[in-house]
Amino acid sequence: MNLMQYRTFGRLGWQVSEVGYGMWGLAGWTGSDDAESRAALHKSVELGVNFFDTAWAYGDGRSEKILGELVRAYPDKKLYTASKIPARNFKWPAKESYLLEDCYPADHIRKFTEASLENLGLDSLDLMQFHVWNDKWATDQRWQKECQKLKDEGLVKAWGISVNRWEPTNCIEALKTGLIDAVQVIYNIFDQNPEDELFPFALENKIAIIARVPFDEGSLTGTLTLDSKWPEGDWRNRYFTKENLVPTLERVEKLRRDLPAGMTLPELALRFCLHHPAVSTVIPGMRKRSHVASNVAVSDGKPLPAELLQKLSAHRWVRMPSSWSD
Ligand SMILES: NC(=O)c1ccc[n+]([C@@H]2O[C@H](COP(=O)([O-])OP(=O)(O)OC[C@H]3O[C@@H](n4cnc5c(N)ncnc54)[C@H](OP(=O)(O)O)[C@@H]3O)[C@@H](O)[C@H]2O)c1
Repeated sequence: MNLMQYRTFGRLGWQVSEVGYGMWGLAGWTGSDDAESRAALHKSVELGVNFFDTAWAYGDGRSEKILGELVRAYPDKKLYTASKIPARNFKWPAKESYLLEDCYPADHIRKFTEASLENLGLDSLDLMQFHVWNDKWATDQRWQKECQKLKDEGLVKAWGISVNRWEPTNCIEALKTGLIDAVQVIYNIFDQNPEDELFPFALENKIAIIARVPFDEGSLTGTLTLDSKWPEGDWRNRYFTKENLVPTLERVEKLRRDLPAGMTLPELALRFCLHHPAVSTVIPGMRKRSHVASNVAVSDGKPLPAELLQKLSAHRWVRMPSSWSD
């Protein structure tokens, strides 16, 4: 069995498992089996995962409650907790027209930090992230002061921004304030744009990068078809509209041609995310023990060959934010 590899989480210096855990699906997507999700979480801890990403919005606190249970079950292990504050208007993403007071007034930042801590049943969070962001707020003292206060009071150890889909640079000005230690960004074989500006900036300034959505919400696992549909209310029906699903599947088929013998698509997808030195941890969404086992096995310290990485760079797909992509 492979031993989990750990990476330094930016200037915070935390040693985090390079394969972390995305906790949206288990509380927010249809088809979740709570017992299996909990078993998957426990298995991940046994296999060395120590970084868990949740949000108040994942089941209105349900995912946070499940994470709290997990952390309390391992009092002797350091499990890093990362959550997110929803915008006050509960809209994704933060549009250019939204004001700071529409999304993150100081009292809202405090209220949801306290709500998350209550859900988790913990006294402090390792990382609290803004669930949406617009960099035009970067220099506004109101969020800056509240974040500093919550840190001084010990409720939050560090702050992060989860950037809007396909807007990886929409946080650089906030990073320049020195108050943000981590950025969570969509990074996968299709969405390679963070490599252009965000990753070099992060490396230079020791900002931790959390690579989210490594499987493009499922397409890069190779399990979707033109008939893929989910029960009513499942967010994936909106993301995988025909407009997105058809070209996505064409690209997945092209990608299969570059898949090395003996490697699965999910393995290739995760190894791609881990190849970049700016990435501290990749957080696949997982609800099954089998997925935890195969994803964790990717952490074996063996990088993808340069020739294959070059081929993968040709699969970059530049998409612009759309009505279905939030
Ligand atoms: N705005 C934001 O801040 C934001 C937005 C999106 C996501 N996130 C974070 O990023 C995490 C990851 O993104 P995501 O969960 O949306 O999408 P994702 O990781 O790209 O894909 C998750 C899907 O991949 C499947 N999967 C996982 N491992 C697999 C394997 N080895 N083989 C086949 N299928 C596999 C999962 O199945 P099962 O669930 O059945 O195991 C699930 O259907 C989230 O959980 C969340 O923590 C944050």
